[in-house]
Amino acid sequence: MSKKMKGIILAGGSATRLRPCTKVTSKQLLPVYNKPMIYYPLNTLIKAGIKDILIIVSPERAGDFLNLLGSGKEFGVNFTYEIQDTPRGLADAFIVGENFIGSDNVAMILGDNIFEDDLYESIENFEKGGMVFAKKVSDPERFGVVKFDKNMKAEKVVEKPKEWISDYALVGLYVFDNRVVKVAKEVEPSERGEIEITDLQNFYLQKGELEVAMINGAWLDAGTFDSLLEAQILAKEKLQDKMVI
Ligand code: G1P
Repeated sequence: MSKKMKGIILAGGSATRLRPCTKVTSKQLLPVYNKPMIYYPLNTLIKAGIKDILIIVSPERAGDFLNLLGSGKEFGVNFTYEIQDTPRGLADAFIVGENFIGSDNVAMILGDNIFEDDLYESIENFEKGGMVFAKKVSDPERFGVVKFDKNMKAEKVVEKPKEWISDYALVGLYVFDNRVVKVAKEVEPSERGEIEITDLQNFYLQKGELEVAMINGAWLDAGTFDSLLEAQILAKEKLQDKMVI
């Protein structure tokens, strides 16, 4: 029998790029058109059929998330909450989430990532290894990127490369099998002091077990003022009929 898929929404961090708006609230609670930002990644997980969802929050804002989202009953799912004391990097989500993940597989989505695509099929069919999603962008230096060889086979994954290597950004949705918890614990912090998600991706890539799927619809990381504005417009014009919450 295949393993269950659990979900994590990483909604910690201090979002200094969105100051002063994030001085008294979390980025993921800011409005994106008519809903708090976190509703969009939550909608993506719920539509993918995931029932158990861990929400990782910063200590200062934990109460606000709880007030907004509650137990999950309203949405037909179960929420668990964990506090991330310091933003140690995206890979930390799998360490903070260790107990929650247990022996299952896990799909982790960033609380500021907004997707138009329905990802039910990809997530439903996942069995083992790692699966990440790429999208061609005009500003790859803002993201983790994946370099493909001439047969479109992933060659390497690099976090915010200073020199251009590829136009394909890796979006903030990562599906991994249970080994990810152990691998995350073994990752050494990078120069910027974070345990990087790209190290987890490279672990699976080196084993030939990383699948890179393409994102066809719109995708945004709403973490800057300009992308937040774009996200508002996307939400109003294209996402309203895609929301189940
Ligand atoms: C993070 C990841 C990056 C990824 C991006 C997607 O960057 O580190 O690999 O491409 O999310 O939104 P951040 O937005 O935290 O700088």
